[in-house]
Order: sequence, then C-alpha cells, then structure tokens
Amino acid sequence: MKVVIYDQLDDPYGFIKLMEPAFGWTATPTRIARMRRLDQRYKDTFGFAALDKSRLVGFVGVMDIRVRTLDRGVETIGGIHGVATDPNFARTGIATRLFPYAHRHFRRKGYRFSFLCTGRNLVGHNLYRKLGYTDTPLADRLTAYRIYRPRKAKRRRKPKRIDYRRMERVFAQVMKDRTGFSVRFPHWARIKAKMQRFQPGSAIIRPGGYALFEERRRTIEILDFHAVDRAAYQDVLSRVKARGKAVLWDPYVSDPMLEQLYRDEGCEFRRGRWFTVMCKPLARTSFDRAFGDRFAFTWLDVF
Ligand SMILES: CC(C)(COP(=O)(O)OP(=O)(O)OC[C@H]1O[C@@H](n2cnc3c(N)ncnc32)[C@H](O)[C@@H]1OP(=O)(O)O)[C@@H](O)C(=O)NCCC(=O)NCCS
Repeated sequence: MKVVIYDQLDDPYGFIKLMEPAFGWTATPTRIARMRRLDQRYKDTFGFAALDKSRLVGFVGVMDIRVRTLDRGVETIGGIHGVATDPNFARTGIATRLFPYAHRHFRRKGYRFSFLCTGRNLVGHNLYRKLGYTDTPLADRLTAYRIYRPRKAKRRRKPKRIDYRRMERVFAQVMKDRTGFSVRFPHWARIKAKMQRFQPGSAIIRPGGYALFEERRRTIEILDFHAVDRAAYQDVLSRVKARGKAVLWDPYVSDPMLEQLYRDEGCEFRRGRWFTVMCKPLARTSFDRAFGDRFAFTWLDVF
C-alpha cells in the first residue's frame, strides 16, 4: 500500500468513486477546490490517500480547527474528515494504517488533540475507539423538542439582507467564557451561507441574538441559537415559532438560560444520541483538563 496526500493524486476523479459509496458525496475536484477556498480549515493538506497499485482504496482527511482551551486560550487542533475505504478492501486494515499518517501530521504541527464526528451506530466508532479516541461528553447533551398543535404560519415578509457581522458579534460575546468550538474562522457566517450550511431565509437575526435553523416540511431543526440574555432569546424564539411548524427540535442545548426558556415553553428533553464527537489527545493532556465543562459545539460545527 502506498500513501500520498490528496494533492498528489494522479486521478482526482478516483476520489468521487471512493466518496460516493461512503457518503453519497460527489466529491469532484471543483467542489473540493471550492470547499478548500471557502473554508480555511481544509486549506492545508486535505488528507492522506491509500493506493493499491494505482487504485485509490482509502482516505483519511485532515483539517485544522481553531478551538479555545482553558490553559492555552485559542489554539489549533486536528480534525479528521472523510474517512472511507473502498468496500472491496473493507476490513483489511487500510483505515488503521492511514490514521497514523494523520496523527503524525498533527503532532508535527504541535497540535495537542485530534477530533472527529461520527455515529456510535457506525462501524467507524469501533475503529476510532481502537485508535484511542473516546466520546466527548457531548453525547449526553440535552435535546429539546416541542410538538405544537397545527397553526398557521404568520405571513412572511421577504427576507432582509442578512447581517452577518451582527451574528458574529453576538457569537463572540456569548462565547467569551466557553471552550471548544467557541472561536470560528473570520467571516464564518457568510462562508457557511455560501457553503449552504443554512439558507438565508432560515436565519433570524435580532439585536441581541440569532438563530440559524433548517426548515423541513413540518419541522424546524435548530443549528445555532445564541443570545445575550433571556429577553433576546425570547425575541428570537417567538419569531422561530411564528414559522408555524409542528415540531421544534434543538439537538444541542448547552446554555442553561435557553434550557430554562425551552422548559417554560413546554419543551420536553431527551438525553443521549447516536451522533458523537470523539477526541484523542496527542500530547500529555486530557479533554477535561483542556476543555473543562464549558465545551461549546453546535450543529453548525459538525465537520
Ligand atoms: C469505517 C471504515 C472507514 C473502516 O475502514 P477499514 O479500512 O475497513 O477499517 P480497518 O480494516 O482498518 O478496521 C479496523 C477496525 O475497525 C472496525 N471495523 C471495521 N469494519 C467493521 C465492520 N464492518 N464491522 C465491525 N467493525 C468494523 C473493527 O474493529 C476493525 O478491527 P478488526 O478487523 O481487527 O476487528 C469503512 O468501513 C468505511 O469506509 N465505511 C463507510 C464510510 C464511513 O462510515 N466512514 C466513517 C464515517 S465517520
């Protein structure tokens, strides 16, 4: 097995053949190039590829993520993405052999942690545990949901221009004393919109708070909801409710103020989910020591 970095692939179209069966992702060179241009976390070495003769049989993606830690302030850590093996080569140890390349790459850059997102119901979870990753406490975070009687949506005015700056200012203010994904790259809001992580029509931005959400036929799923105080939360929530959907669903409630508001709103709560963020220390430290219990992460941070 030969290992090369993504940029050294002779046939970048082979990448589509690997990613399509794994994630249903048509990873054309143009799409990858755009993603790396827009989201600076993918800019450097995109990942390590395993070749059998000249056939692409496995991939482990690497990215650079800025986080906030208790002991170092803002620092960069490693992120793993796009882990896939050609089904014809499954369980022959390809992913196991590729991961050390990613970890060496992160250590060389001085990164203290490697993070990844996965499902506890996926075979990858076993693989990652064997490689020294453990679930972060996010797996236990509260999900709030509320089922409403059918209502009429308020007539919606044409969406105004999105004030990305205001959104970023609120985020910076509420994340001051949070660790983890509490720092985002410059102009993240505009870029996430360009990458279609949220639709401009599904954003509510008010002076003291904002919510980004996904609107399906009957459901609103919150991606990112922050506000500076309860009144600002209420202001945004009342506008989310006015969309008239039957179900409101917030999978990551981590602010006690928002939790209380949801409680007063009559929401129910659930703990535990399949989705998980895993972490492996690459230096002599631990998740708890670096991040404590104020670790920030929302649906918008999934990578
Ligand atoms: C997850 C994936 C990358 C594993 O790649 P792989 O090259 O087959 O993995 P390896 O051969 O190195 O397996 C290492 C370990 O992973 C676990 N594992 C891998 N495939 C497994 C399977 N089908 N069932 C149960 N465990 C499995 C086992 O613990 C295995 O060790 P073992 O064979 O000694 O028991 C591959 O199954 C895949 O591409 N899946 C689809 C895409 C995906 O789910 N990616 C991860 C998203 S987060």
